[in-house]
Amino acid sequence: MTIDAIRNFIAADMRAVDEVIRTRLHSDVVLIRQVAEYIIGGGGKRLRPALLILSAGAFGYRGRHHHELAAVVEFIHTATLLHDDVVDESALRRGRPTANSLFGNAASVLVGDFVYSRAFQMMVGVDSMRVLQVLADATNVIAEGEVLQLMNCRNPDIDERGYLRVIHYKTAKLFEAATRLGAILGAAAREAEDAVAAYGMHLGTAFQLIDDVLDYSGDHAVIGKNVGDDLAEGKPTLPLIYAIRHGAPEQAALIRKAIEHGGLDDLTAVLDAVRKTGALDYVRAQAQSESRTACDALAALPDSKYRDHLLQLADFAVTRTY
Ligand code: IPE
Ligand code: IPE
Ligand code: MG
Ligand code: MG
Repeated sequence: MTIDAIRNFIAADMRAVDEVIRTRLHSDVVLIRQVAEYIIGGGGKRLRPALLILSAGAFGYRGRHHHELAAVVEFIHTATLLHDDVVDESALRRGRPTANSLFGNAASVLVGDFVYSRAFQMMVGVDSMRVLQVLADATNVIAEGEVLQLMNCRNPDIDERGYLRVIHYKTAKLFEAATRLGAILGAAAREAEDAVAAYGMHLGTAFQLIDDVLDYSGDHAVIGKNVGDDLAEGKPTLPLIYAIRHGAPEQAALIRKAIEHGGLDDLTAVLDAVRKTGALDYVRAQAQSESRTACDALAALPDSKYRDHLLQLADFAVTRTY
């Protein structure tokens, strides 16, 4: 089963989500429409909405709110990307120039705020305090994660634990929220809700670990982002943290310097060290392990096609090339 098979399985739901996204993005302010439609029009994997739809299905939800909430999590994700590309000074996203490189930083930040607040307008419509709580908390934690990461920019001393905290906050939290919301809509028992939320958290962690591997080993034409972006800004991701710890003293010194200075002058040498120390294999193995833990958590869910597809998604998260 591939990601296409997962998409086919929930194709009707995802079309409904796209329709919600399209209509809810509307604004009378021209620049908002331009920027928002530009980033959304770039596509993206739509993984977070798919997770919410699959989770709701696994708990037998039969209403309409899942389409709205799936759009909400995609909006929150989109707003973080608009802001993230400004902070990371990234030039390529979804195979196209980033919104900041096309419309400028100010427009990206402000339209990001519009998309965030539109998401909050939409979630109120579901009329559930639990739903609001989950989304308000997730959004807040994501912001903490991005700031934590900012604090650790150009810091070669952060350890694996500190790094994991950053990625739990900045990425895994929204995956967790998406799966938890599906369970809440499906009126799942608290234990099952927590199980699918744990699945989301571990899946999101695996997903970001692979993202950090792809930043060193991917093909920009396939990932739709520039390779080496993390090194350019001096971001100490796990491939580097591992190579510093397990490499020869010269390798460690080289990578420490590259993190402290940022930029791409040492990219070739850093890539060489990252490969030779087995850092990418290590990070892939950690991602595999997170993905397995995610799947184990799904044992608490009733057997269903939805659950099967959640299991497949955990596989995609670690085998993906984009
Ligand atoms: C990008 O997320 C940000 C990370 C958490 C690595 P995705 O890889 O899901 O982005 P799109 O939506 O598919 O472009
Ligand atoms: C993504 O972090 C996390 C959020 C957007 C909150 P990255 O900076 O690694 O994501 P990419 O590589 O730009 O997609
Ligand atoms: Mg980034
Ligand atoms: Mg990245």
